Amino acid sequence: MSYADVYASWKADPENFWMEAAKAIDWVEAPTRALTDKGDHLYEWFKDGKVNTCWNAVDRHVANGRGEQAAIIHDSPITGTKTTITYAELQDRVARLAGALRAKGVEKGDRVIIYMPMVAEALEAMLACSRLGAIHSVVFGGFAANELAVRIDDCQPKAIIAASCGLEPGRVVHYKPLLDGAIEIAKSKPEFTVILQREQEIAELKDGYDFDWHAVQQGVEPAECVPVEGDHPAYILYTSGTTGAPKGVVRPTGGHLVALNWTMKNIYNVDPGDVFWAASDVGWVVGHSYICYGPLIHGNTTIVFEGKPVGTPDAGTFWRVITEHKVRSFFTAPTAIRAVKRDDPKGELLADYDLSHLKAIYLAGERADPDTIEWTQKVTAKPVYDHWWQTETGWTIAGMPAGIEEMPVKIGSPSVPMPGYDVQILDEAGHPMKPGELGAIAVKLPLPPGTLPTLWNAEARFKKSYLNTFPGFYETGDAGMIDEDGYLYIMARTDDVINVAGHRLSTGGMEEVLAAHPDVAECAVIGVADALKGQMPVGFLCLSKGVNRPHDEITSEVVKLVREKIGPVAAFKLAVVVDRLPKTRSGKILRATMVKIADNEDFKMPATIDDPAILDEIREALQTIGYAQS
Ligand code: COA
Ligand code: AMP
Repeated sequence: MSYADVYASWKADPENFWMEAAKAIDWVEAPTRALTDKGDHLYEWFKDGKVNTCWNAVDRHVANGRGEQAAIIHDSPITGTKTTITYAELQDRVARLAGALRAKGVEKGDRVIIYMPMVAEALEAMLACSRLGAIHSVVFGGFAANELAVRIDDCQPKAIIAASCGLEPGRVVHYKPLLDGAIEIAKSKPEFTVILQREQEIAELKDGYDFDWHAVQQGVEPAECVPVEGDHPAYILYTSGTTGAPKGVVRPTGGHLVALNWTMKNIYNVDPGDVFWAASDVGWVVGHSYICYGPLIHGNTTIVFEGKPVGTPDAGTFWRVITEHKVRSFFTAPTAIRAVKRDDPKGELLADYDLSHLKAIYLAGERADPDTIEWTQKVTAKPVYDHWWQTETGWTIAGMPAGIEEMPVKIGSPSVPMPGYDVQILDEAGHPMKPGELGAIAVKLPLPPGTLPTLWNAEARFKKSYLNTFPGFYETGDAGMIDEDGYLYIMARTDDVINVAGHRLSTGGMEEVLAAHPDVAECAVIGVADALKGQMPVGFLCLSKGVNRPHDEITSEVVKLVREKIGPVAAFKLAVVVDRLPKTRSGKILRATMVKIADNEDFKMPATIDDPAILDEIREALQTIGYAQS
């Protein structure tokens, strides 16, 4: 069947399409229907099925004869170690950890926060939770204590599983003090923690509260898989919105299993037994879907890579891992490729490696610029597929259905909508636009299986953020267009979310931190174009009356403050002091115009601007930090 046939078959009978896809999952009780319409534009998938995620990701492969196959390969150029865990070993390790959690009171529906670096145990912790029907929430290691505390208060975990430390090149990230600090700040106190001691740093454990990962498992009864309802949340993953309060994206169990399993062949074109590698982090959605669950559910071998694209030890690391572990499909972010290209512009390091097992390279997480795609194609001689998705959807909205049909690549486009997604371009009033016209990208409801049914404990916010603007549609927050051939083009966000090195960040969240500085009266944060990271945040500060301290003292204080409050991942390094911010007559800060000035782009003077002269002051301020030069 061609892509067009598959897409048409979904459109003609979505219920049948997803019920067929659901047959690839082991159900304890098979669902009798795919979609449940709860009314008011709210939906669930496979609601009346009973199933366990961990069974499908681990135990069933052992039962089906894959016990000796590698499930996880941990490769850490930072510690110089490589470890392989077979499916049989994984089953044993996860069942014991789940048993230990259960012995300490963790049950179906309880939340567990996981705060871990790129070690195999991070996946084991996720799987142990899903074995019990507990709902995990993984928090990225680059976030500071305060961000962790916000997540603790929102999901109120019974326990936190963490490691003693993470390893960044040249720096040990001390997780335990961050964890202790977060628990101290949080109003909701977890009952206990489980700490994986790494040899690079042994953390001090509080007796009766912090339990050693290994000791806590001693003598416990391994846990069996607990069946849960199809709409039971498998996990909560927090992502940035317009404000500093992160949104808890809920991932329902049944749809998650069905959809991810479907993508492994149809999009990533791997068969069970093949090695699949997503070079991301378990703290992000890519890590959830394609380091942990997708490959394991499908019986692939997944790689947990603790390293960076460059500097660990060099820009050949990606090619080494692909060669050594015989990776068949590789997934990374354009920013990582840009880092490799910067260090090895001619791709000379590739000469040392053999990519013959590799079929294709997949890029996502941010816009893939044509330069990056063309360079990657040239040096690797492999197809390079951009694909577009979001934390909210958990899997591809538009991409190349390489396992169905290798359609022509159009550089600059992540290709075509996947079955399940009726993607439309709408104008401000919600009317469909013509091919080639730029508008808001929306998806006709219902969204397909595996996508978010709501936000954790925040249904009103869910509706306001995604459903209210275009009734009957999910608002993606991205703007773009569809061409005559049905290829989608993603141009920009329509909100104040920025994308720094493939990491989604809220400028509103950073503004909240800047505004809390005692000398700052008013502020704005914008994302300016950056050749490596895609975007970089820049802060503008208006100082309170009477403050006459040196400006660079204040700017370095706010830089430190963002690192402390949000974390190093915000990459907030640039701030300037200005007298005034450009605003509309109604007082709205003209952030989009400021971005255009910074990026040397043409812009139309906003008709509602209060005082056009302020834009010259903004340009001059940007020039002092190396932007708005031409
Ligand atoms: N724990 C703690 N700190 C972390 C971290 C983690 N897991 N990940 C990143 N950080 C820190 C870094 O050490 C850095 O700190 P610094 O300011 O002290 O140098 C800061 O956060 C910014 O990190 P990063 O954005 O990774 O920038 P970098 O300059 O260290 O590296 C790249 C640049 C392009 C190599 C890197 O951003 C990269 O590998 N990007 C790909 C990311 C990716 O795969 N994203 C896909 C998500 S789907
Ligand atoms: P996240 O939820 O962190 O995955 O970020 C999702 C956002 O990243 C999207 O809404 C887009 O703005 C951006 N994004 C992700 N993938 C792509 C892509 N392939 N092309 C353009 N933008 C992308």
